[in-house]
Amino acid sequence: MKIVTIIGARPQIIKAAGLSRAIKNHYADRIQEVIVHTGQHYDGNMSQVFFDELGIPKPDYNLQVGSATHGVQTSRMIEGIERILTDEKPDYIVLYGDTNSTLAGAVAASKIHVPIVHIEAGLRSFNKRMPEEINRIVCDHCSTLLFTPTLAGFENLAKEGFRMDNARPFTIDNPKVYHCGDIMYDNSLHFSTIADQKTDILQRVELTEKPFVLATLHRDSNTDDKERLTSILDALITLSHEIAVVLPMHPRTRKMTEQLIDDERLYRLYHSENIKITEPVSFLEMIQLEKHASLVMTDSGGVQKEAYFFRKPCAILRPETEWVEIVETGSATLVDAEKERILQTCKQYLQQPPVDFPEIFGDGHAAEFILEKMLEA
Ligand code: UD1
Ligand code: UDP
Repeated sequence: MKIVTIIGARPQIIKAAGLSRAIKNHYADRIQEVIVHTGQHYDGNMSQVFFDELGIPKPDYNLQVGSATHGVQTSRMIEGIERILTDEKPDYIVLYGDTNSTLAGAVAASKIHVPIVHIEAGLRSFNKRMPEEINRIVCDHCSTLLFTPTLAGFENLAKEGFRMDNARPFTIDNPKVYHCGDIMYDNSLHFSTIADQKTDILQRVELTEKPFVLATLHRDSNTDDKERLTSILDALITLSHEIAVVLPMHPRTRKMTEQLIDDERLYRLYHSENIKITEPVSFLEMIQLEKHASLVMTDSGGVQKEAYFFRKPCAILRPETEWVEIVETGSATLVDAEKERILQTCKQYLQQPPVDFPEIFGDGHAAEFILEKMLEA
């Protein structure tokens, strides 16, 4: 079986590591993987670092599309992916998540009848102003094999009219949905022990002995809106009077913070003893930070879940989440971009950390499950 895997943004590179590792370890004689990097993320610390660290094979193609408006970026990707699919003639294209790289892969493949495997299918925020919501709906509805990481994802697809039986053959008109657990959980388990041995991020941010909050921020609804961005950063600054805050900064966030935030706040943010702003960190460094943090504050999909994997409370800097189960358990709270809600929730979680983290994300073997189902389809 030959598959073409599309990656482009940071979380997809990390997710793809799980599948590539399973292919290398268990399916190398049966599955050939061709990796296409769209070039959506291109800085060393947003892309190459993950190849170096996670043992992902070097991409066979790099479309080098770079940053642009949604339309320009996506159309460049569609053109490049169509060309590769036409040349490579794979049995499947594998798409992850909900970025513009996912959308481009879905459009290119569905038009020339290459069956799509969508990993991380079925998630919904029910907020169509999110670019990701459009991307994931389109991708799901063009896919042949859909793998949901959570039961909520599975149920969303059932509500959207996907058949849940086993009537073969599976095609774009008769897709098959599997609930399989989260491939990111595979990675977090796999790299958890290695992270402590191989990284020194805690020493570098001088937090080996001190409690800290780990924060990440990159969602366009937060970074590109002056009021929301100011409110979140104000909450961070206030929180830093009580506890250290580590903020590995996404390039989008750095750019927009420097554009939108006033000089006085910027000074406090960048010069406070207790706020450690870093460049984006590597995945192993991120795991180490997540494992040792007292609390996570984030608008990232992946980081919300990793907080849960490592049994940490999480303040979600969004009005809604696709990962509804973690909120239902009480270990995560939607705080949106409201300073007082953020501070109140953090205070509560720091005083009384949650203890109940039931298994929601599968058994850490989602990759093997997916590959088995693809082979058998
Ligand atoms: C993208 C995804 C988002 C995902 C996120 C993961 C879409 C629509 N959005 O958002 O779903 O959660 O990746 O991180 O696909 N930039 C750099 N260097 C880079 C990459 C980006 O400087 O290597 C800057 C550029 O100014 C660029 C901006 O970040 O314009 C945004 O990048 P883009 O890939 O368009 O969206 P993200 O916000 O990263
Ligand atoms: N991540 C990382 N370094 C960072 C921030 C995040 O390695 O500085 C990892 C994080 O551990 C998770 C993934 O990137 O595995 C999440 O990606 P991101 O937050 O960019 O996007 P999202 O998950 O929201 O799509």
